[in-house]
Amino acid sequence: MNDDDLILKVRHLSKTFDEHVALRDVSFDLKKADTLGVVGESGSGKTTLARCILRAIDPDSGGTVEFNSDQGGWVSLSSLRHKELVPLRKEMQMVFQDPYSSLNPRMTVRQIIEEPLIIHDEGNSNERLERVREMLDLVQLSQDSLTRYPHAFSGGQRQRIGIARALILNPNLVVCDETVSALDVSVQAQIINLLEDLQKTLQLTYIFVAHDLAVVQHICNNVLVMHNGVVVERGDVDYVFDHPQRNYTRLLLSAIPSPDPDIRMTPENRAILEEPEPVTNGYGLVEGPVWHDDYGLMFSDVIFGGVYSVNDLKEVEPVFEHRRGIGGMAVHAEGGLVVSGKNISLKRFGESESILLLDRDPDNGNVGYNDLTTDTAGRIYVGSLGSSPVFDDGLEPRAGNLYVIDLDGNSRIVSEDVQLTNGLGFSPNGRVLYHSDSRRGQIFRYEVVRNGDLKQREVFHEFEDGAPDGLAVAEDGSIWVANAGAGGVAVIDPDGSQRSFISIPVPMCTSVCFGGAGLRTLYIVSGSNGVDGDRRGGVYRYEAEVSGIPIPLAQITVPAS
Ligand SMILES: Nc1ncnc2c1ncn2[C@@H]1O[C@H](COP(=O)(O)OP(=O)(O)OP(=O)(O)O)[C@@H](O)[C@H]1O
Ligand SMILES: [Mg+2]
Repeated sequence: MNDDDLILKVRHLSKTFDEHVALRDVSFDLKKADTLGVVGESGSGKTTLARCILRAIDPDSGGTVEFNSDQGGWVSLSSLRHKELVPLRKEMQMVFQDPYSSLNPRMTVRQIIEEPLIIHDEGNSNERLERVREMLDLVQLSQDSLTRYPHAFSGGQRQRIGIARALILNPNLVVCDETVSALDVSVQAQIINLLEDLQKTLQLTYIFVAHDLAVVQHICNNVLVMHNGVVVERGDVDYVFDHPQRNYTRLLLSAIPSPDPDIRMTPENRAILEEPEPVTNGYGLVEGPVWHDDYGLMFSDVIFGGVYSVNDLKEVEPVFEHRRGIGGMAVHAEGGLVVSGKNISLKRFGESESILLLDRDPDNGNVGYNDLTTDTAGRIYVGSLGSSPVFDDGLEPRAGNLYVIDLDGNSRIVSEDVQLTNGLGFSPNGRVLYHSDSRRGQIFRYEVVRNGDLKQREVFHEFEDGAPDGLAVAEDGSIWVANAGAGGVAVIDPDGSQRSFISIPVPMCTSVCFGGAGLRTLYIVSGSNGVDGDRRGGVYRYEAEVSGIPIPLAQITVPAS
């Protein structure tokens, strides 16, 4: 690797306190703009490593830390005298764990954030104030915070103040020592998002010390696993956590309250929702909401036809002219949308022809298909409708099937006796598939095994009222299920219990989807039955605060075949 791409070279770093060896012969390279996680049990030497790197304490002689400085290339931090380190300190900053004790309670927010500039003698008072104001914007604190004292802020806000202070000197390397550990889960997620945004905007390199391996797996690309001052395992974070070579790493991983981030959530995690904001209406039965980074929210009108996109400016544009009937939609790995109706086809954006992926299901009365979803391997999961989608038609319902279609177009049945698949969605780690069966009033859960096959389904949740319709899985693993009959959206925790129910005063709440920045906006689509041309269907937007570890959908992985 080219040295210019690196920011740090650590070699044979050790630290002994009295007789106790807290750090032993640690070596690693750190690439610019990378995030290196440092994990290990309490006392394993994580903080000692961080402090030795930044020369907050002096390592034992023999070890070296080289830093690629903006002010003239590689310097050896470990051999500089303290005075010589001062100008370099601007480029390396630390954000601490405890947002309560790390801020001086007698200083105003302005003084706290400004202090590093004063220490480094940068700018006059007006220029400094201007910088402090910029930092407040950057960490999303209001400008009237300036004259307030730390005690007037919540833990998460204080951590923002600490981050603003750490960043005001424009550092390249930021060491976060348990920066989010003292915060509750929903605030953790916000600070993690902030750190990630700042990393992108400011091209920061992070060393991220944490005991929460799920957080580390989310935010870091590489990891060092420490035990008794020694690095026992290292490498790509997903690889190390998925294939731990050492028992110690396995133990650490198993010490997470639950190794499966999908079932880590507790019922206290709430959804904070405001009133629904209508985005657009005037449609018939609105279905298939799907979020696409370029097109925004897309939806179909089953009754009057067409696929539309609506962006935040509330302009609605047709994406496809299409006859009525599109029920489910999903973004396809190769670009475009997979849509379901009488058959399953792929519609690439900007092309008028669509590609047939799966024809009518011959076994179930040819009614067609309903909701569908895709995995990152490009597989499509879709349910065929039973004999009639109408509930009270007096007919014995005939079952449909759940199909998986591979990228090469081969399809096979992965589950039988499916009645009315109105919602399908993966858990954030891609290992569980949820499926709502409107006719039975149940949500089923399948484990995804090799090749995209599904293990025996289990009933995951049963509704007493109404019938589950479309569903979306939030980043924290909760399942948000539209239930038109019950008049709202149920939020089901990953353990199957209902966390909350949000009544929604719209004509018929048919489906839900997360979208917008960080997938934090809940879009709810509503339909009318279209009788007599009734066009009261539309799209509503809620700000949904989803707690837990945010996991971008792009990171969904399905167990390899
Ligand atoms: N200033 C010090 N004087 C003496 N011993 C110390 C000092 N700092 C750390 N140690 C010891 O060094 C070892 C490593 O401590 P360190 O703080 O680096 O662990 P850590 O991995 O950060 O733990 P935690 O997860 O609890 O923060 C511990 O045994 C600790 O007691
Ligand atoms: Mg520590």
